[in-house]
Amino acid sequence: MNLNEIIEMDKSYFMNTFGNRTPVCFEYGKGINLWDTEGKKYYDFLGGIAVSALGHAHPKLVKAIQDQAAKYIHCSNLYYIEPQAKLAKVLVENSCADKVFFANSGAEANEGAIKLARIYFKKKGMPEKFEIVTLEKSFHGRTLATIAATGQDKYQKPFSPLTPSFSKVPINDLKALENAINEHTCAVMIEPIQGESGVNLTNIEYLKGVRELCDKKGILLIFDEVQCGLGRTGKLFAYEHFDVEPDIFTLAKALGGGFPVGALLAKEFVAGAFEPGDHGSTFGGNPLACAAGLAVMDAMINDKLVENSDQMGIYLTKQLSGLKSKYPFIKEVRGKGLMIGVEVTNDKAKKIKDKCFENGYLIGNVGSNILRMLPPLVVTKQDIDDLVAALDKVLSEF
Ligand SMILES: Cc1ncc(COP(=O)(O)O)c(C=O)c1O
Repeated sequence: MNLNEIIEMDKSYFMNTFGNRTPVCFEYGKGINLWDTEGKKYYDFLGGIAVSALGHAHPKLVKAIQDQAAKYIHCSNLYYIEPQAKLAKVLVENSCADKVFFANSGAEANEGAIKLARIYFKKKGMPEKFEIVTLEKSFHGRTLATIAATGQDKYQKPFSPLTPSFSKVPINDLKALENAINEHTCAVMIEPIQGESGVNLTNIEYLKGVRELCDKKGILLIFDEVQCGLGRTGKLFAYEHFDVEPDIFTLAKALGGGFPVGALLAKEFVAGAFEPGDHGSTFGGNPLACAAGLAVMDAMINDKLVENSDQMGIYLTKQLSGLKSKYPFIKEVRGKGLMIGVEVTNDKAKKIKDKCFENGYLIGNVGSNILRMLPPLVVTKQDIDDLVAALDKVLSEF
């Protein structure tokens, strides 16, 4: 099928939740590159929105999925699953968590985190503790509970009334958080680096203060690392930058390298609140998903992709800062590792993104003033030089 036929079919049969998408359909990829149906080559600096951490068609991931698919794709969680046990072990051995539960997406992992926080207090005999404080401009998913947790009106308004028991406070404002915590609060839920609202960082003193506050008040600290986790920020987990450990945290996006898998991780004292029958999933943690996750973790740890994310992140930020000194409408280059936002003051973020696309570079935009880059962790200096040269050319037209 050619592109127009695909678009026509999509418009006829697919619900219009994504509007007019970027007019391209990819046929195959390799590393950071994708090729479309007309054979045009692209550099994928969006990485499927922080998903394709190993790039496209990574041999380890392809082999793991092929091998597992040839054995068996699925079996129920009524039975023991070897890749599931192994992936849980790898995640525990490399993080501050003691136990893992697998879901199918970030929103579902966050639903699990919310349920775990609530049931923890129910089982402690404190059923009055069920409210969760989250941050303004946060994004936690599209399910009914996670849109209520999300701090952005646009995701919530069409679906009101919202699931009750979530309140919001501004980022990096410890006093506001302290004021929002009351006798009903069971947890605080935070993205250490906010992704969907345009790469907003919490600061170290704030997160350390949040940890102390949660300890003082006897409530749980949940980190949503669905986007910022798994090497994205130059450390395996974003919380490592802040020297703070959450009681519960969630992962998804990069975990399967593109195969859908999410995870809920927790310290032993809270994980134990989930007992048989309290939570479950048909697909979550199935053999194929976990085989993919194992291949991703293998590459991340043994092929030093986290270190590459750190080094290439520093390099990309430096090169983008060079463009900032050239173009006064670039207000700020911010982020950590390969999670980078570029704020512009000319309201042209979408136009700049579209021009980059025409030149064969995939980047993202958040609203009209933020460009977003989340390339695969396999990105090289040469790829970055190529992007920056293309961006320079594009920006010179604005
Ligand atoms: C921080 C964060 N949490 C949760 C989600 C939801 O993940 P999913 O789309 O896999 O449900 C996202 C997705 O962008 C995210 O960035």
